[in-house]
Amino acid sequence: MDAKVETEVVVLTVAFLTATVDLMAFVVFGDPNKDSTFKSADAILGGVLSEVAASEHFEGKTGQSISVHTHGRLPAKRVMVLGGGSRSEFTNPGIRDLAASVAQAANKAGAAAVAFLLPALGANRETALIQLAAEGVVLGTYKFSRYLTGEDHKRPAALKSLGIVVDAKGKKLLVGRAKALSSAITRGRTIATAVNHARDLINEPAAVVTPTALASDAQAIAKRHKGSVTVTILDAKKCAELGMGMFLAVGQGSDQESKFIHMIYKPAKKAKKKVCFIGKGVTFDSGGYSLKPSQAMEDMKVDMSGAAAVISSMDAIATLGSEFEIHVVAACCENLVSGRAYKLGDVLKSMDGTTVEINNTDAEGRLTLGDAITYVREKIAPDEMFDFATLTGACMVALGPYTAGVMSDHESLVKSWMSAAERTGEDMWRLPLNNRLREQLKSQVADMRNTGDRFGGAITAGLFLKTFAKDTPWVHVDIAGPASLGSSRPSQPKGGTGFAVASIVEYATRA
Ligand code: BES
Ligand code: MN
Ligand code: ZN
Repeated sequence: MDAKVETEVVVLTVAFLTATVDLMAFVVFGDPNKDSTFKSADAILGGVLSEVAASEHFEGKTGQSISVHTHGRLPAKRVMVLGGGSRSEFTNPGIRDLAASVAQAANKAGAAAVAFLLPALGANRETALIQLAAEGVVLGTYKFSRYLTGEDHKRPAALKSLGIVVDAKGKKLLVGRAKALSSAITRGRTIATAVNHARDLINEPAAVVTPTALASDAQAIAKRHKGSVTVTILDAKKCAELGMGMFLAVGQGSDQESKFIHMIYKPAKKAKKKVCFIGKGVTFDSGGYSLKPSQAMEDMKVDMSGAAAVISSMDAIATLGSEFEIHVVAACCENLVSGRAYKLGDVLKSMDGTTVEINNTDAEGRLTLGDAITYVREKIAPDEMFDFATLTGACMVALGPYTAGVMSDHESLVKSWMSAAERTGEDMWRLPLNNRLREQLKSQVADMRNTGDRFGGAITAGLFLKTFAKDTPWVHVDIAGPASLGSSRPSQPKGGTGFAVASIVEYATRA
């Protein structure tokens, strides 16, 4: 993908107001005139800051900001004040958007060096906040501009170095602590770089990101982590030998060969457990003969977002290290129409022997994942497995575009997954795998059919997968909504979001 200009993120140990930078930025929670940094800066600037705050109705609310020139009254050329909202309601991940806003403002103002004062929310939150701030800088400067030909898209970003000030007074940091803070920065940058990589994979057209391209990407990641990561690509012939009748049926209408990706990370020491992350990798979903209307098909290059998330996560996991043996699996193919495509009424034989009647070729993700799950159970036998899939529009109807649907019958596993997600700020909500809905999947001619009715569509998809997961501890995450968004926020431009990467890396390296 694109070579990105790297912004350096460091810890600054100077007193905040003495930082000689192009832009200094800090956060106030509510009324700025009650904030001590604001008051000091305002006094030095002769009251300009409070004047601008009043005239622009800046009240320290989330999303608000003001910015003024210092005209030499401070060593910094410009001061930016951001609204943090309510201090008591502020959660750590909120710092991502604040840091992203600072990075964007710097680029807009042509500021190369920036000092950002980490809001004082308690010493126990500092490492988490500094990691998330580093993430925000990298996420906030993401742009998918490869195909934009205007000159302004080619100009390199202005921001070169963002210094995070942890203590406004610039008291000398203890040596041990400085190390923890700078490794938090590394962690944040590593995670955000993986998120941005997933975004690139999602945002690239389906003509570029084919199953073969995803396989090459996985190989490139393995090459970067020689010694700890290996990858195997199973071609269609190999998948046929393994009996993956469902997976292969979905891709048989395409000229792009289906590819089954299996990556393995092995820790240096004996692994504590074996964890597997599976991603849906439909590189384009036309719906097949149950053809989608044009508008619904328009964005269907995003249907490989699950695969993008798990593959990209592996890069970060290998960089940061995990105590677990990590497996990443993605059954990648294209769901198209042609003389060779699978049809409604076809009966498919899955890898575990279950026969499936096709009553909708657009419910293809569960077919690819069903065989992937069987492969994982039989060939890997992990302690835990997770799947990430842009699986159902019904999940978006239930939860809206920002929240992923989480389904599982394994209480302790789903609990630790939800707590990892909570720490990263990725919105996830549990839906029940109500067995009563299983009657919707009954078929007269096969063991089951692939689609239920309209009601409970996200759950019947989950129940379909559960057939193959059997007793292996498993969590299903439907990311149809948050994988790609039409609305933006500072740390997340429109388009592919890289959703789930942060939680996967958090789970793999911190659970
Ligand atoms: N890839 C789609 C789901 C989707 C919809 C992802 C919107 C992202 C945004 C999936 O393969 C699909 O077509 N699902 C069908 C299932 C139905 C046929 C049971 C759906 O949701 O309509
Ligand atoms: Mn579909
Ligand atoms: Zn799909």
